[in-house]
Amino acid sequence: MNHFTYKNGVLCCEDKPVQDIAKEVGTPFYLYSTATLQRHFDAFDSGFDGMKHQTCFAVKACSNLSILHLFAQMGGGADIVSGGELFRAMKAEIDPQKIIYSGAGKTRTEIREALEAGILMFNVESPQELDRIQEIAAELKLTARIAFRINPDVDPKTHAYISTGLAKNKFGIPVDEALEEYLRAKEMENIEIVGVSCHIGSQLTQIDPFIEALRKVKNFVAKLEQKGIHIQYLDLGGGVGITYDDEQPPHPVDYAAAIKEELAGMDCTLILEPGRVITGNAGVLITEIQYTKMNTGGEKEKRFVIVDAAMNDLSRPSLYSAYHEILPVQEPAEGTEQHEVDVVGPICETGDFMARDRMMPEVQPGELLAVMSCGAYGFSMSSNYNSRPKVAEVLVSGDQFRVIRQRESYEDLLRGEELTALP
Ligand code: LLP
Repeated sequence: MNHFTYKNGVLCCEDKPVQDIAKEVGTPFYLYSTATLQRHFDAFDSGFDGMKHQTCFAVKACSNLSILHLFAQMGGGADIVSGGELFRAMKAEIDPQKIIYSGAGKTRTEIREALEAGILMFNVESPQELDRIQEIAAELKLTARIAFRINPDVDPKTHAYISTGLAKNKFGIPVDEALEEYLRAKEMENIEIVGVSCHIGSQLTQIDPFIEALRKVKNFVAKLEQKGIHIQYLDLGGGVGITYDDEQPPHPVDYAAAIKEELAGMDCTLILEPGRVITGNAGVLITEIQYTKMNTGGEKEKRFVIVDAAMNDLSRPSLYSAYHEILPVQEPAEGTEQHEVDVVGPICETGDFMARDRMMPEVQPGELLAVMSCGAYGFSMSSNYNSRPKVAEVLVSGDQFRVIRQRESYEDLLRGEELTALP
């Protein structure tokens, strides 16, 4: 359920007509609904009521400060994967004791910054990373709290680029080698073992792979107990999928119930790192149609709708062939003619599309389109390719809206550059 609906023939975000915002802000822009963000956070988090848990929002999914702050106010923590995300999370006033740091390639500087910030734990992904964390913690005379990220070799049955829990993926430590690493960590002076973690992939539409991974982690935790290592935090990663098209992912409450059942009797705090399920359907990308045209001469006539948003603003269709529903902001009258079109951007690549071979009602230049379900991995994956300034981000609450990130200017594009000629 989200708060983007037609009211009196115009698409609204909560009670605000989208076109009113477009008039003030210009296009393209990302648009988020506060009510949907809150509802999704709450639906996910409260599913785990009755068991000690901490929801740490995956910052990479949607990293706007105001949105992170909203989750902080709801008790949320953060799952971070870079120094930049740590910086954002701290600025958004997320309690460092609710921040966990994942990722296979943490640099020395990033580890130092996270130790100084006093984060809850590092999810360590290799023996060398453990050694590096010990070395830096010793230099700083601090103790690093750690979990190892276990690679359970489970197939999450999702897009290959976002599968992370198979043995052939770069993530984590194989379950068979992890025990040795825990024993090594136990002897390290500046390391405190607090947890175990696992993240098998994103956009999962079935519960079974989670349970399969969880069982492997549980067996492993039992082995650790036998060696006198007690786990306080069990981090299950993110990964519940959402509906973009006709997918039928598990409802977060059913997902939570299955996890709770599997963990019954275990004495630990569960950590969850959801991203997409919270913000995915809480954000859309609003774009204006520039031109429509028809290219003939090929096997079949091709109709194109050329919009002012492009693959630099939303890369998911180009990168993963991802489906995003596209709705006209002005609700089409009943009986409006439909055509099969490609919705494309202005970037000089054939891969620059929002949709291909999509049946859409007849549209005209100047009309607005909403690319749906862009609240996760939308703006956060945008770039300046083709020297296109990053678009604005807007947050609605009721009939009010705020620009929560200004549209970039041409000057912003040149920040850090100067006209230099080598002698
Ligand atoms: N935790 C870790 C360690 C992760 O690597 C990820 C996502 C998450 C949590 C959050 O997963 P979620 O709840 O959002 O499924 N750009 C891709 C998705 C990449 C996911 C990367 N890791 C996309 O647009 O589909």
